[in-house]
Amino acid sequence: MPTALCPGSFDPPTNGHIDVIERTARYFDDVVVGVTVNPSKKPLFSTAERIEMLDLSLAHLDNVELASLDGLLVDFAARRDIRVVVKGLRAVSDFEYELQMAQMNSALRPELDTFFVVAKPEWAFLSSSLVKEVARYGGSVEHLVPAPVAKALADRFGVASS
Ligand code: PNS
Repeated sequence: MPTALCPGSFDPPTNGHIDVIERTARYFDDVVVGVTVNPSKKPLFSTAERIEMLDLSLAHLDNVELASLDGLLVDFAARRDIRVVVKGLRAVSDFEYELQMAQMNSALRPELDTFFVVAKPEWAFLSSSLVKEVARYGGSVEHLVPAPVAKALADRFGVASS
């Protein structure tokens, strides 16, 4: 299998994201993780910080490359001759928006296909937004995100991490 693109905001990456990327890396020769640059979303972490967290969290995979994804996903994919996008689905509620994006991407670039990976049940409730909210109020997220992310959250919100 050639190259797959795993796109996302990853603000911050969670164990659910890492699981989807790990499983994608098992089936594809190469995986490009595209970290969106979208200033209108006002991310907690800069693109460089999110890339660094992913880099540390995915160091055990030698077929994964990290890149910032600026502009349209279809243009990023075309520049790299990527034809498969892989996204995780946690619940039916994800499906509607993911389907819409997959079909829009297909309308913009018909040769680009989207594959969906079903989230493991233990991560199905996880979202970057909830993780940030819990961490902001001093709750423990160490079992929900990779260690470098837990540390970055603790540093950002000024709480101790074990
Ligand atoms: O982690 P997210 O926020 O669910 O990821 C959304 C993402 C990055 C896949 C989407 O926002 C995206 O593709 N952004 C790039 C800009 C683009 O192509 N937008 C049109 C999508 S149909």
